[in-house]
Parts: sequence; structure tokens; C-alpha cells
Amino acid sequence: TQDLDTFNLDLEGLAVEGVAVEGADTPFQHEGRELTIDPDAVLATGVETTVVVDYGGSPTPIQVGTDVFRVGWHTDGRDAYVVSEPAGAASWFPANDHPVDKARFRFEVTVPSDLGVIANGLRTTTEDAGAGRTTHVYEASDLMATYLASVVIGDLVFVEETAPTGLPLRSAYPRRLADAAATDFADTAAMLEVFERRFGPYPFETYGHVVADEVLGFALENQTVSIFGSDLVTGRGTIDAIVAHELAHQWFGNAVSPATWMDIWLNEGFATYAEWVWAEASGGRSIAESARATHARSDFGVPPGDPGPEELFQATVYLRGGLALYALSQEIGDEAFARLLPLWVERFGGGTASTDDLRMLAEELSGADLAGFFDEWVYGAELPPLP
Ligand code: ARG
Ligand code: ZN
Repeated sequence: TQDLDTFNLDLEGLAVEGVAVEGADTPFQHEGRELTIDPDAVLATGVETTVVVDYGGSPTPIQVGTDVFRVGWHTDGRDAYVVSEPAGAASWFPANDHPVDKARFRFEVTVPSDLGVIANGLRTTTEDAGAGRTTHVYEASDLMATYLASVVIGDLVFVEETAPTGLPLRSAYPRRLADAAATDFADTAAMLEVFERRFGPYPFETYGHVVADEVLGFALENQTVSIFGSDLVTGRGTIDAIVAHELAHQWFGNAVSPATWMDIWLNEGFATYAEWVWAEASGGRSIAESARATHARSDFGVPPGDPGPEELFQATVYLRGGLALYALSQEIGDEAFARLLPLWVERFGGGTASTDDLRMLAEELSGADLAGFFDEWVYGAELPPLP
């Protein structure tokens, strides 16, 4: 978007050996998270440039603010997994670690041959690397935000199926949890059908789940391969809401990513709403009942549209965010709302979108002026009464 004398990538805790821009050795500085690259010639607006960063070391996860979880590459020296939202990608590869800068990814992972590997996208080759090691290559052909890039390495059992819609499903579970996980994720294909009817075509080439052999206490919607903490797997089929939530993120969060982190409710509020859609479609309580029950809670201290870094993953973003979307459906009516969700993905898929983009699209479909509605539901300090 502009001529550059220098540019920056994010990379933390790893050592850079060299940088090449268009094949030429290029000076750089690396301080903390900032890798500043200073090419000889100005990089001109709109001209593609190839940058190669030669780097290495042992990644360590990154503390972001007061988050209870450190993000990025985790390993015990044998198994490894990656959970990066919001800013942990810089723990393992150099990038502009923000959702506005999506890319296609190719992973080439060499591990001891008794370990399995899964990453975003589809496995393209598995090759003997000698000395008891194997190289696994995965390629993800759709644009992806850096925080959704993930590799999991471990003693994994792979399950490969095809959904009735034709979508390849492939999952990987720690051996001891494989049976329990198969039970807990059994409704995935049925969810896909329900969500495709409401949200439009599933946006990527594959889907599946990986269970990290680690008590995470949460799941994360890594693109095409959502990751779950081992503690979530019960074997009793009790985690449908979370399974539906992470699947819905493939449309809302992954295909359409937040323009800024302030827009995180566009991920979490939509995924919460999708939990209610699945509950209703699978014979549970109606969307309206879910909204009423959620509205009765009181922990919505800050507005979902401006949570600040401390509340990025708190109830207001998820639940009040879901309520805001439900209220919007009531405000613009079922017919406009039914067109809104698939059109949102059609228009902004592959890129990012903001709360203003949502308001403008809803106004376009309904003909209503929604500025007041968004001020109350998304930016207002107080939770408004349900319509
Ligand atoms: N986006 C994930 C989900 O709602 C939650 C990620 C939590 N991440 C964190 N760093 N605390 O499914
Ligand atoms: Zn979520």
C-alpha cells in the first residue's frame, strides 16, 4: 500500500541468521519481537517481493498481557502443539503477526519416525528423512491468518472420513484418547450440514479435530483443524457446544477474520450464536430460549465491541456478542438475517471485516439505519433488554 524503505516482521525468541530480499543479503535488526529489515532499494507500492528469513532455535511460548495461557509453540521436547491466538505465531515463524496479513502456508516437519504430525490443510507427502526420521509435508491452499497456523506432533491416531457433503474430514487423537474422541466428535458431519444451510458453503478444503495431549481448558479453531485440550474429551458426547463453536469459527473468524482485535466479538459472538443454532437444530432448546437464558447472566462488564486486551476472551465478547447478533436478527427480521450470514462470508471471506462492515451489510439488506442499534448492543456499557 506504500513505498517502503524498511519493513518489520514479528519474531520472538528465535535467532535470525540472515535475511535475503529478492535473493540479495539484506541488513536487519532484531530486538524483542521486532525484526526490522532494511533493503538496499525502496520496495515500491504494489510490487511483489520475495523475502527469505534464515532463523532457528528452540521456540518458547509468549506471554501476551495477563492472558492465563502463553501462546505459540509448546513442546515438552518430544510432543508439540501450537495455540497462537492472538499473537503467538511470532514464537515459531517470522510474519506480520496480525489477521490483516493472511497467507498460504506450507509446512515441512521432520520428526522421529514413531511420531505423527498434523497441520493445517492437507498432507501432500510423507518421506523417509534417514536416521529414523520422517518428513511430513502439509499444504494449506486457502489464505490463513497467522494466529490460526498450527502443527501438532505426538503419538497420534489418525481418522480419515468423508462427510456426506464430500468434504474430507481428517482428525488426529492421542492414542489413549482415540475412542473417547471418536464419540465426542461424532456429530461433526451433521453440524456441517446444518451450518452450510445457514452460513453458506464450508469455506476450506478439509476439516477435522486434533486433541493435544495437554490440559488446555479450551479449544481453538485452527484453520481446517481445530485443536482441543485433552481435558475437554470425556467420551460421553457432552461437548457438542464446543465442537459446534469451533466448527462455526471456520466461517466466522477464519474465512472472515477480525479487522482489528477490537472486532473479536465478530468471531466469538458469532460462534456462540452458532452453538444456539446447533442446539435448536439437534432438538435442544430454541435459539430464542438460549438467548433468554444467556441474557439472564450478569457478567457483561464491558461492551463486546471494545473489550480491551484484558477482556479479549471474556464472557462479554462471547455471550453478549452472541446476544448482539441475536438482537440484530430480531431488528432486521428473519428474511434479511438469513441472507446476512452467507453474504458476510461471500463478501469478506479470505480477508477481514470490522463491526462497521457488519453494520453496513445489515443496513444494505434491511434498509434500516442501524447506528443506534450498534451503539447500544455492541458499544454500550449496559446490556440492553432483549427485543
Ligand atoms: N478462540 C478460542 C475459542 O473461543 C479461544 C482462545 C483462547 N485463547 C487464549 N489465548 N486465551 O474457541
Ligand atoms: Zn471461539
